[in-house]
Amino acid sequence: MRRHDLLAELHRLLVPRNYLEIGVNVGGSLTLSRTRSIGIDPYYTLDREIRCDAHLVRTSSDEFFAREHPLAHFDEPVIDLAFIDGMHLAEYAFRDFVNVERFTHPGTVIVIDDMLPRDVPEARRDRSVPSGRSAWAGDVYKVLDTLREKRPDLVCLEVDTAPTGVVVVINPDPASTVLLEASDDIVESYVVPDPQHVPAEIMDRRRAHPPRELLDLPVWGELASARDLPAADARAKVEQAVAGLR
Ligand SMILES: C[S@@+](CC[C@H](N)C(=O)[O-])C[C@H]1O[C@@H](n2cnc3c(N)ncnc32)[C@H](O)[C@@H]1O
Repeated sequence: MRRHDLLAELHRLLVPRNYLEIGVNVGGSLTLSRTRSIGIDPYYTLDREIRCDAHLVRTSSDEFFAREHPLAHFDEPVIDLAFIDGMHLAEYAFRDFVNVERFTHPGTVIVIDDMLPRDVPEARRDRSVPSGRSAWAGDVYKVLDTLREKRPDLVCLEVDTAPTGVVVVINPDPASTVLLEASDDIVESYVVPDPQHVPAEIMDRRRAHPPRELLDLPVWGELASARDLPAADARAKVEQAVAGLR
């Protein structure tokens, strides 16, 4: 299954009230949305129809989240479904995750693209170096280890999508400051010269869920229905729904 098919299925299962996308490019993923959406990309050039109420922002994700009310296009400043697919360098994807998480509720689903590079050249930081691969995943895969190490409260599900794999993060906590407090050390550890050290379990996808099996889990309906509950009840419901997934 390709990542856009997975994303389309998540839209169908979650029926999100809104969708935020970092990295729009020509609109391949944004065109899947039928809900109120925000797309952020300093260089987007749409080549297809967008079939939703979208606020397209021609800026970097860092500048966007530095704004006073970045989610003013939504009814409330909380995100139901997010897709992080902007700059493919770990420090950018890390900051994107931290910024998105500030605007989550317990039922929010965050999809991060390019998390399972297939080989070391595909995971290079310097895109200008030829790799023999058409895709460039970069080193965003490093964010997965960070989340697992620093935030065991999150549920991070690797998914075997084509071409470069995604990670679906559930059970976010907008009140957590753990990542922000450690960010200087984390980012310093990311920025190292090529070639990158890519763990074998990332490249061979041994922990990755087959997409269909993941989509068949009952958790998506539970996450969607948690949105209507008071915060404490929603957290308890989501904790129960994800209990077997860690
Ligand atoms: C892989 S493409 C996105 C593809 C799109 N999500 C899809 O699936 O069809 C990555 C995009 O991220 C954008 N980008 C690069 N740096 C960015 C940044 N700092 N903030 C937001 N977007 C960025 C690029 O301009 C590029 O269009």
